[in-house]
Amino acid sequence: MANPSLLILAGDGIGPEVMAEVKKIIGWFGDKRGIHFDVSEDLVGGCAYDQHGTPLHDKTMARAMEVDAVLLGAVGGPKYDNLDFSVKPERGLLRLRKEMDLFSNLRPAQCFDALADFSSLKKDIIAGLDIMIVRELTSGVYFGEPRGIFPDNEGGRVGINTQRYTTDEIRRVARSAFELARRRNYKVCSMEKANVMESGILWREEVQWVHDNEYPDVELSHMYADNGAMQLVRWPKQFDVIVTDNLFGDVLSDCAAMLTGSLGMLPSASLGAPDTNGRPKALYEPVHGSAPDIAGTGKANPIACILSFAMALRYSFDLGDEATRVEKAIEKVLADGARTADLMGKDGGTPISTTEMGDTIIAALDASL
Ligand code: IPM
Ligand code: MG
Repeated sequence: MANPSLLILAGDGIGPEVMAEVKKIIGWFGDKRGIHFDVSEDLVGGCAYDQHGTPLHDKTMARAMEVDAVLLGAVGGPKYDNLDFSVKPERGLLRLRKEMDLFSNLRPAQCFDALADFSSLKKDIIAGLDIMIVRELTSGVYFGEPRGIFPDNEGGRVGINTQRYTTDEIRRVARSAFELARRRNYKVCSMEKANVMESGILWREEVQWVHDNEYPDVELSHMYADNGAMQLVRWPKQFDVIVTDNLFGDVLSDCAAMLTGSLGMLPSASLGAPDTNGRPKALYEPVHGSAPDIAGTGKANPIACILSFAMALRYSFDLGDEATRVEKAIEKVLADGARTADLMGKDGGTPISTTEMGDTIIAALDASL
């Protein structure tokens, strides 16, 4: 049987640096576990624009459709801030999400014990935290039409985006949240603004419908998204799986990410419908961005990107035990005190570099055998 295929799109800023550490981990699995991947690499974002005049070449898009999973680093940077909207680095990422139809974006926010002091919240509020945000990723205000900047009738301009959701779009992401809940603690909280938005009313009704008809065994609650933001910092452990739309999910997942102390720790998976081979179309990426301010300095934390690869092992390749092995190795190196610059607490200490963190994790993987 052919090896499963991976397309690596390291992208811009710290993307290539953190992805270099993931490549070491992929190599480790080949050498030490006999788990081989066919890896190809290509460009996305600003670097693709520099080369091709587009943030995602059609050939790269086609390749992404063929492979078993895409691993993405990060896109964007100040160099590209003044580009036309249609060729901004982010458009490359959004095109991948849309054309691969990756409607379900899983963003776990998990607090590693060793890092409980790094959160801006009190330790008892976040110690042991383990929640999962499921963000709808291919619709809503990110893609709704009409959109644009138009002249208005008074000689000014009007900027328009459209929040739009259909029954099917809501039901499929709700199902994916309920499925996850069945693998966790049978608890889903759905967030919208049904008090002010019709699309929020529809969202609430459809999520409830999926629950009542297909997942009555899972506990479902609804919350307005603004209250959800407040509850996330008040008492985040009240949640297990949160399901929400594209824009609220963007905001709430950054908020949840910071609960854990550092954006440098958080992975994500974007999943579509299962292919003929039973695998969902999938893209894995760290939640942090391209961090241009530290790019090239060796300060980036590769853990979010490595944990994203662990999610690929679990969700694309049915290698949950190997994913756990990676997660445990990371837990171990953090417990032993390995810290990149983003994880320096008040008491200081000397941070290790991106490569050193990768090597330390490899050593911990070796020790796990
Ligand atoms: C994210 C990012 C993206 C988004 C940007 C880079 C387009 O913030 O993945 O959360 O807004 O979805
Ligand atoms: Mg975001």
